Amino acid sequence: MTVTDQDYQLFVFALKNSSKYDFSQYSEKSLKRRIQKVLTDHQLTISSLVTRMKSDPEFVEEVVMEITVNTTELFRDPQIWHALRFNILPHFKNNPVINIWHAGCSTGQEVYSMLILLNELNLLEKAKIYATDINTDVLDVAKQGEYRYRFNLSYLDNFDKVIKENPYNYDEYKDVSYDTYFALDKPLDVIRMHPFLRQKPVFKKHDLVTENNTLYVKFDLILCRNVIIYFNYNLQYRVLDLFHQNLYENGCLMLGLHEAIMGSNASRFQKKGHAYFKN
Ligand SMILES: C[S@@+](CC[C@H](N)C(=O)[O-])C[C@H]1O[C@@H](n2cnc3c(N)ncnc32)[C@H](O)[C@@H]1O
Repeated sequence: MTVTDQDYQLFVFALKNSSKYDFSQYSEKSLKRRIQKVLTDHQLTISSLVTRMKSDPEFVEEVVMEITVNTTELFRDPQIWHALRFNILPHFKNNPVINIWHAGCSTGQEVYSMLILLNELNLLEKAKIYATDINTDVLDVAKQGEYRYRFNLSYLDNFDKVIKENPYNYDEYKDVSYDTYFALDKPLDVIRMHPFLRQKPVFKKHDLVTENNTLYVKFDLILCRNVIIYFNYNLQYRVLDLFHQNLYENGCLMLGLHEAIMGSNASRFQKKGHAYFKN
């Protein structure tokens, strides 16, 4: 059974009417797949799903958690982290404070990657890190800073590539021990971030669709990676405009490897490699 256009409309309308969430401007194809998964996992038809959503606010929250895609990893796309290490973060080294917003931070691996890199660059103390997501379940995991070891061995490879190696000079190798930043407990199958990292960020629920900047500061750097890919063009426009308004002059926006600023927002930023600087 596939989710038809009519099922999709029914779902989006019911969600909007029974909650504060508005998924009407998400990309339809991927949202249909997620609705399909909810139907299968809960053994429901679209009409029984919609009926339950209208009368059960807790279930609505559960459904919203289930329709968001939360894939992430430590130092995801190492080339992006090389750009941050060598080209972008050094821009801010003379700032008294560096404000960074991770919008759509999922379970926090992107945030811990940033904290580790900032510490390596001696910038951690002056950084203020805000990490937000629409999904409170993933924010709870992010606050714990605890991940499976066996399924995430790529995290260690990525750490080596970004923190130990220098892609511009392979003779330059920094032997940074993992233990500086996290504990590896192989029998318990756990990678656990050290408290000095876990205590640093402000984690907060925030919906990019319905809310403006509820962090009440401006930013030097905003990372919103692999989030707008799930939004349609109009919603991407609105969210990119929100970021533009809340960046300082010359502030930097980093998107996912396969995301780009399109349309009239493009002229408001200057693209340098993987980064977009506010004009
Ligand atoms: C694929 S993950 C990306 C995680 C991380 N930024 C990365 O690139 O590895 C997308 C995240 O965006 C969040 N998200 C989706 N819609 C959102 C919205 N309207 N407001 C805030 N976060 C949202 C999801 O809950 C999910 O955790």
